[in-house]
Amino acid sequence: MKRLSLLFLSLAVPFALMVGCEQSGSKTEVLQARVDSLQNRLNSVYTPGTGAFMNFIVQPHHLKLWYAGQGKNWALAEYERQELMGGFEKIQKYHKDKPEAAAVAMIFPAMNAIEKSIREKDDNAFKNNFVMLTNTCNTCHQALKYGFNVIKVPAKNSFDNQSF
Ligand code: HEC
Repeated sequence: MKRLSLLFLSLAVPFALMVGCEQSGSKTEVLQARVDSLQNRLNSVYTPGTGAFMNFIVQPHHLKLWYAGQGKNWALAEYERQELMGGFEKIQKYHKDKPEAAAVAMIFPAMNAIEKSIREKDDNAFKNNFVMLTNTCNTCHQALKYGFNVIKVPAKNSFDNQSF
């Protein structure tokens, strides 16, 4: 009886291990397939380029910031400043390895100066700092060989359907 159960064990244990291994083998395959399909999805996720962030976030909020300041609408100005900042932060986040991500920091002093003039509701300082901000837009464009892309203090409000 003892021998028989030993015999049984000596056969059953390797068999159980084999089945177990096979099971975990197919589990690994299932997981690998899921990883592969997630990787495929990730590869086809649309990430806006720097040009798109500039066009859709930075440019409009630069303009709206100006008109909010002109209207001494400080709550709106602060909101627009934060939105503008969000555009720069997206470039740092989504284009980490590109030269523009490293260059973004050059805009922070002007952004901080604007924040201070908004907080102090100082419209003269706001105007001067906005000019400094705009010059820094161009400094970066020049540094990255997009110097043909010239930004200026807005002269006309293209967002006519919003109250500033
Ligand atoms: C960190 C560097 C940097 C700063 C700071 C910067 N830009 Fe840019 N900007 C770029 C680069 C690089 C491009 C070109 C991106 C591309 O085409 O892929 C660009 C492109 C643009 C474009 C696209 C123009 C077009 O015709 O499609 C606009 C508009 C623009 N920037 C506005 C601004 C404004 C406004 C500011 C300041 C508030 C600013 N940028 C600050 C780097 C910068």
